[in-house]
Amino acid sequence: MIEGAKVLIVDDSEANRVLLTDLCEVIGVETECAVDGVDALKKVNSWQPDLILLDLTMPNMDGRGVLQHLKKDDDLSTIPVVIISGVDDMANIAECIQLGADDYLVKPFEPTLLSARIRSCVAKKQAHDKEIELSKVIKNNYDKLKTAVQSRDALAHMIVHDLNNPLAAIKGYAQLMLRNKNDEEKVGRYSGIVLETSEKMFELIQEILDVSKFESGSMDVQLEQVDSAAVTQEVIQMFEPVAKERDIVLDVQFDADHSTIMADKNLVKRVLQNLVSNALKHSPKGSQVKVSARESNGSLVFKVTDNGDGIPLEFHDKIFDKYFQVSGGKNTERSGVGLGLAFCKMAADAQGGHIWLESDASEKTAFSIALPIVE
Ligand SMILES: Nc1ncnc2c1ncn2[C@@H]1O[C@H](COP(=O)(O)OP(=O)(O)OP(=O)(O)O)[C@@H](O)[C@H]1O
Ligand SMILES: [Mg+2]
Repeated sequence: MIEGAKVLIVDDSEANRVLLTDLCEVIGVETECAVDGVDALKKVNSWQPDLILLDLTMPNMDGRGVLQHLKKDDDLSTIPVVIISGVDDMANIAECIQLGADDYLVKPFEPTLLSARIRSCVAKKQAHDKEIELSKVIKNNYDKLKTAVQSRDALAHMIVHDLNNPLAAIKGYAQLMLRNKNDEEKVGRYSGIVLETSEKMFELIQEILDVSKFESGSMDVQLEQVDSAAVTQEVIQMFEPVAKERDIVLDVQFDADHSTIMADKNLVKRVLQNLVSNALKHSPKGSQVKVSARESNGSLVFKVTDNGDGIPLEFHDKIFDKYFQVSGGKNTERSGVGLGLAFCKMAADAQGGHIWLESDASEKTAFSIALPIVE
């Protein structure tokens, strides 16, 4: 496409500038004129032409000077230059071609030849620009792929590590059971540990599969009328033994006239499980974890509050990212892989709701999830 291409005409003779401008107009290219070398460099920078028609003999820096400047600059050296000169100037033209000029035209101009040269130079420049653009896209994609491969490798490493420990424990207890097969008490205790540990492995694998299902769009989300008070109660009951063991009070405050929401029951339950499990995990013994629900603008807002580690502000925009974990909590060892909140966010979005965090590092964390109420 030559139309719309930008041609800078550099000539100190006004007659030549007018003539070349007229000829260029016939071809359909845009033009700008410069009256000498210094003017030309200024306009090259501000106007970014696709081709320069460059006179050799000019005041204030001649054509050769302009050419040398252009070829020294990485960004400008790719702009094609056609030298304009008299027939008797062949030595200078040859020198300019050596300096990097692409072609030449002798005065008086022959319109057909001028048009052919402009077309071929502009086409070359446009092909070159496309190549640069393409290589930028390729580089960008390559960088993205590299980052993805790196995070996949880090994840594979983490998963192998997180699955390896419980698997080693299962193996160890299975061996102990074999060795103590006649001791009923020990076999009973060890098989309990094997069961609990394998359940944790199962949960981790389930979490990984669910997050990837959300990401690939293959998660089956069934929106239906859900009794949110009943779901909350089920979750609370599930965590009561853990809370008791850690001497934590699990407090429920249900403050809504309408408790039926439009949601996927299984997803709501699992979101609440994740939030309560995190709250308990990060709370000190003897503290309180509160689960509340209230109405706000046509939504039911569940809120899980604890007085535990807290989450510093600088991590708030990353907290729902996959595999993100805050290191150095006061109340916990690292456990889990950092997929729970990513799952919660994806589940909230998939049900037309949203999830957010209010917390500071001063020992208070509140995660809220809003889901649409059915009136
Ligand atoms: N209530 C909380 N108080 C303090 N920190 C929290 C709380 N909830 C989450 N976090 C921080 O956010 C991180 C991510 O939580 P997330 O639930 O996604 O992962 P996880 O609990 O580490 O692992 P899992 O995948 O088993 O849930 C946690 O590792 C923890 O650092
Ligand atoms: Mg978690």
